[in-house]
Amino acid sequence: MTAADNERYAGTLRATLTEQLVAQGSITDERVAAAFRVVPRHEFVPLVPLEVAYADDVVLMKRDDSGVAISSVSQPAVMAVMLEQADIRSGHRVLEIGSGGYNAALLSELVGPGGEVTTIDIDADVIDRARQGLAAAGYDNVRVVQADGEFGSPESAPYDRILVTVTAWDIASAWMDQLAEHGRIVVPLRLRGQTRSIALDRTTGGSLRSRSMALCGFVCMQGAGAGCERLVGMHQDQVSLRFDTDQEVVEPPEEVLKLPRVVVWSGVLVNREEPLSDLNLWLAASRPGYCILAAQRSAVKKGLVSAIPSWGTSATIADDTLTYLTSRRTADEEVVELGATSHGAAAAEHAESLAGEIRRWNHDYRQGPDPVLHVHPADTPATRLPPGFHLTRPHTHLTFTWP
Ligand SMILES: C[S@@+](CC[C@H](N)C(=O)[O-])C[C@H]1O[C@@H](n2cnc3c(N)ncnc32)[C@H](O)[C@@H]1O
Repeated sequence: MTAADNERYAGTLRATLTEQLVAQGSITDERVAAAFRVVPRHEFVPLVPLEVAYADDVVLMKRDDSGVAISSVSQPAVMAVMLEQADIRSGHRVLEIGSGGYNAALLSELVGPGGEVTTIDIDADVIDRARQGLAAAGYDNVRVVQADGEFGSPESAPYDRILVTVTAWDIASAWMDQLAEHGRIVVPLRLRGQTRSIALDRTTGGSLRSRSMALCGFVCMQGAGAGCERLVGMHQDQVSLRFDTDQEVVEPPEEVLKLPRVVVWSGVLVNREEPLSDLNLWLAASRPGYCILAAQRSAVKKGLVSAIPSWGTSATIADDTLTYLTSRRTADEEVVELGATSHGAAAAEHAESLAGEIRRWNHDYRQGPDPVLHVHPADTPATRLPPGFHLTRPHTHLTFTWP
């Protein structure tokens, strides 16, 4: 293949990918589609075949010494959804936190010649890669800076949009400080075992309020804003409970899963593939002692834990009792029934109560709008926070309310 044939083939693959993103609803805005049609993704992943560069998939670029993924070129569908959440306009000044070049090039297309894009990454290798890709693709107007995103990039502030493309645990104070008056932050926020890309608008009172959210997955933030989940191992670590750092870690009684099991079925039916993230967030908000229970396949095989998703399931640990969300097949193989499994001193009571909460979610919230996230600076007095589900992070108070 000549270089010209190669470019033509890349163009065809790019057009197909864009059509696919439009067909599946990841792109609804023609401006975003236009950007996807022109930015040559293959220039940012030069070592993979063109078919891989234009697949709707993440391209892993770097792992740390223990094998954990720390840098990637994100999945096009996720980027498209976030760009739409951001609603980038011509002339905007945009900061991207977590670089690689491809998304910065899309941003550059969207802001046009009158706008400005700054992209920052904590990793010098990523910065080199981003610079090379942007030069090869012809986007020499993007400002590429090596910096810890926790502190933003004050030199080019204020920004109309701040797009974070790495999993964050909090909304850093610097992002709020560097956001223009009518600005918007789009950030993949990690909360109780799930990551949601949340678009946050500044309110007149100086807080932020979400306008949309979508499930997503990203590599974890490094540097000053790095967060972590704390694990409590059980049954020789075949089973674990995960807690966020703002939660109190509750130790389960030893060998609790070997105690008699009580199961209560809720009567709530869901499609086997239906994401239960909204239910999980609701349970996180409403159940004391909330955590995520994850199990190795060996634990499921041995019957210690009933079948649960590979990432884990909602659980509570309270009153020396471990209770978790479970499901069983129905006559329709596409549909499962949700229920609660419990072991421990108050198993009957807790299983009944969790099943009741599943019914409540089903009745009151399942088909409803997304919850709303309110973000207030950490020094906001408690009396000024809206009532709802509160999480305290280093820079902010996060409050979820359900419309
Ligand atoms: C998913 S990649 C970003 C993908 C990119 N936006 C693209 O165009 O494909 C996430 C990046 O965030 C970077 N990162 C992690 N912690 C960071 C931090 N504190 N500040 C800036 N970048 C960070 C990683 O080095 C990694 O390159």
